[in-house]
Amino acid sequence: MQQMWTDIDHYIESHLIPEDPVLTQTLENTDAKGFPDHLAVAANQGMLLQMLIQMNQCKRVLELGTFAAYSTMWLARALPEDGYILTIEGRDTHAALGQENIDRAQLKQKVELKVGRAAEILKALPEDTEAFDFIFIDADKQSYPEYLELSLKLSRSGTIIFLDNVIRAGEILNPDNHKPSIEGIRDMFKAMQNHSRILSCTALQTVGSKGHDGFALAIVK
Ligand code: DHB
Ligand code: MG
Repeated sequence: MQQMWTDIDHYIESHLIPEDPVLTQTLENTDAKGFPDHLAVAANQGMLLQMLIQMNQCKRVLELGTFAAYSTMWLARALPEDGYILTIEGRDTHAALGQENIDRAQLKQKVELKVGRAAEILKALPEDTEAFDFIFIDADKQSYPEYLELSLKLSRSGTIIFLDNVIRAGEILNPDNHKPSIEGIRDMFKAMQNHSRILSCTALQTVGSKGHDGFALAIVK
């Protein structure tokens, strides 16, 4: 099935996803530097991020887990010129690659990359930090419950929270899998269930070039 899912993603991309030299150059540089591409979002998922931001006329975006900054480029594409992205990356090698790709992209929007453990960086933000309009959680899955709570603190009513990789080829249902990443996702589902600060939430499974996975989406009350 994987080959068909990949072929269909390419079919979708070839019809619906316009070419953008910034996105292409980001993927090419990531590959040239020897980094794997499976950590990045698929182009059709990047477009979904762009569209959610456009639909809601978001201006301030928070991203946890920059990696190569490919998703960051999609978030930036969606924003007006006075838009702002704070993106946080925990691994030095990924942060260096992400910063290089951001610098090369010469984006009009302000993109700030901070390096370190996302939870610590978020807790250290100034008290008067303005709420974010859109939050993309894509860092270590083990910390998703903590990232969800910290994200809610940095949200306003209507903020959209998008959490990547919440299905993991169905491993969330495997009773023998107690990896911290899988337990983190299960705890995130429990935390989202009847959360007093969440207006609506769901999760969708996806198949495609990145295998079988999925994302969760929440609107802040
Ligand atoms: C992994 C992490 C991701 O954010 C992703 O989109 C795909 C895979 C990983 O850690 O394996
Ligand atoms: Mg991801």
